[in-house]
Amino acid sequence: MGMGPPPLIRYIREGAEGKPKTPPLKIIARLLRLIWKYKGKVLIFVLAASAVLALNVIGPYFVQKLVDEGIKAKNANMLIFYVSIIAVIAICAWILGVIRSYSINWLTQNLLYDLRLSLFAHSMELDYAFFSSIPAGQVISRFTSDVEAVGQTATTGFIDAVFNALTIIGALIAMLSLNLELTLVTLSTVPLIIVSVIFLSRRSYRAYREVRAKVGELTSNIEQTISGMRISQSFSDRDKENLRHFERVSYETMRANLRATLVMAFTRPVLSIIRAITIALLVFYSGYLIINGRTTIGTLIAFYSYVEMFFNPVITLTIYYNMLQSALAAAERIFDYLETKPSVKDSENAIDLEIKDGEILLDNVSFSYGETKVFENFNLKINPGEILAVVGPTGAGKTTLANLILRLYDPQEGRVLIDGVDIKTVKLKSLRSQIALVPQEPILFKDTILENIRYGKSGATDEEITKVIRDLGLEPIIETLPDGLKTVVSEGGGNLSVGQRQLINIARTFLRKPKIIILDEATSSVDPYTESLLQEALKRLLKGRTCIIISHRLSTTFLADRVIVLDKGKIVEEGSHEELLRKGGLYAKLYELQIGELIKIRGASVEKYAQV
Ligand SMILES: Nc1ncnc2c1ncn2[C@@H]1O[C@H](COP(=O)(O)OP(=O)(O)OP(=O)(O)O)[C@@H](O)[C@H]1O
Ligand SMILES: [Mg+2]
Repeated sequence: MGMGPPPLIRYIREGAEGKPKTPPLKIIARLLRLIWKYKGKVLIFVLAASAVLALNVIGPYFVQKLVDEGIKAKNANMLIFYVSIIAVIAICAWILGVIRSYSINWLTQNLLYDLRLSLFAHSMELDYAFFSSIPAGQVISRFTSDVEAVGQTATTGFIDAVFNALTIIGALIAMLSLNLELTLVTLSTVPLIIVSVIFLSRRSYRAYREVRAKVGELTSNIEQTISGMRISQSFSDRDKENLRHFERVSYETMRANLRATLVMAFTRPVLSIIRAITIALLVFYSGYLIINGRTTIGTLIAFYSYVEMFFNPVITLTIYYNMLQSALAAAERIFDYLETKPSVKDSENAIDLEIKDGEILLDNVSFSYGETKVFENFNLKINPGEILAVVGPTGAGKTTLANLILRLYDPQEGRVLIDGVDIKTVKLKSLRSQIALVPQEPILFKDTILENIRYGKSGATDEEITKVIRDLGLEPIIETLPDGLKTVVSEGGGNLSVGQRQLINIARTFLRKPKIIILDEATSSVDPYTESLLQEALKRLLKGRTCIIISHRLSTTFLADRVIVLDKGKIVEEGSHEELLRKGGLYAKLYELQIGELIKIRGASVEKYAQV
């Protein structure tokens, strides 16, 4: 508490720029540990890859024999013998190559599967505070583009790279055993390779990092725009702004990608030119040696194969090296996420809370979100069975109050007690199962209304649910829906009115029969008929329970035993609805404003003052 945001959040806020903070080898080691689980498959891969490597290296040696001892010596038996050996080698290398490719892909896919599962499992453990502090797009891109990037290169690519490096060494050894002079000629272009590889990889590294950062930004942007679509569609200015922003980020992503591709496009030709130079030198020099009788044509042909064997891995490794940088950055992001600890969790010897009376006490609570201070030495006692309405301007701290009682956040100072028990000492699950939060924006799932209500209590029977609907007096609403209880709610509840959504929410909460209810009212108003249904349903829901109604429509404060007016985290007025009206303070002002507006634009959307 009070130590500033956790590393991942800081990392996201400050952007992915800058140097990776985990050493690359550590990340690779961690990835390799993850695939160590599949030792058997790793062994198959290593054996197959080594065999392919060995076969590739000895192949040209037999070609040399074939040329020198078969063709040149005009020996038909030797010719057949070496052709057969080369054919067998080729077939074996081909079969083992298939095994090698398949096993490496199998390992990659299983690693990705494991990563995705652990990301998901970890997401379930992270808390509300975490998810409200980072954009969903940043989490989503870890599941999608980061996992993809790791898959392409990080582990299996690393193993492949090791084999490529071994191939280079193998080719070198073979060349040395054939002819020292020719080997030196071949190696004479190595400094050229080193210089161009360094030159190119510096550039591509920068380009790739930029690509990753832009892709992350793009994902966030899409996510935010799409989830805001319902709201933004009514504000065309906002739309234009979104579009402009999206165009800019897309354009930058395209530019970054093109820059990366351009560097890559240069890599192959540059290295191919160096290879061509090497082969020219080789042919020229070995031609000279052959004329002088110091080497054979077979050796030249074998050498030619080894030069290929030497250059292909060099090209692959150069390209791979660049991609590895971005894969490692992605892996780092994934591991960072996996290491983020929830700030609110069960204490060591947490006990099960059993709420009997439902008394709530905020004892000298101070709380801030990072820099934003909301409460300072705040005290509030809510009696068992009391209905408390909390009103106040936007940003006053009403939702925060609810968050603290549900222990979505821990206060930096002070305690929250329920029935005299500090909620920090109880199991989160027991706390949250007995307190229901009816949120400001009801969350509905893409399923039937029946199932959406059942979500309140898994395993509730259809009879229980219909009884709840009857008890709350909601039948008239259900009857107006095309398929009654079987009506399918579209994603986000778009095919239902705000009032209908709230009613479903209330039914869901009622089914749970919680001891304490916190109702964060929606800001938008509903038609008078739905309003009366809501009022009635609420009355029945709240009966005999401790309730906090965060009231936006002052009509619900009629239901309350006591009203508190919150402003900038302080209780500025307190009393019953009538008392507060008589007092003529902030509450009375807010009330008059609402009633006045209602008369002016009856039935229309009343969002403006609903904020009050
Ligand atoms: N997750 C968060 N991170 C940082 N600051 C936050 C967060 N949630 C709320 N705040 C800030 O805390 C203050 C209190 O917010 P809160 O949501 O409790 O207000 P509210 O009274 O519920 O307002 P409204 O009537 O608009 O729902 C505001 O200044 C808000 O900007
Ligand atoms: Mg709020």
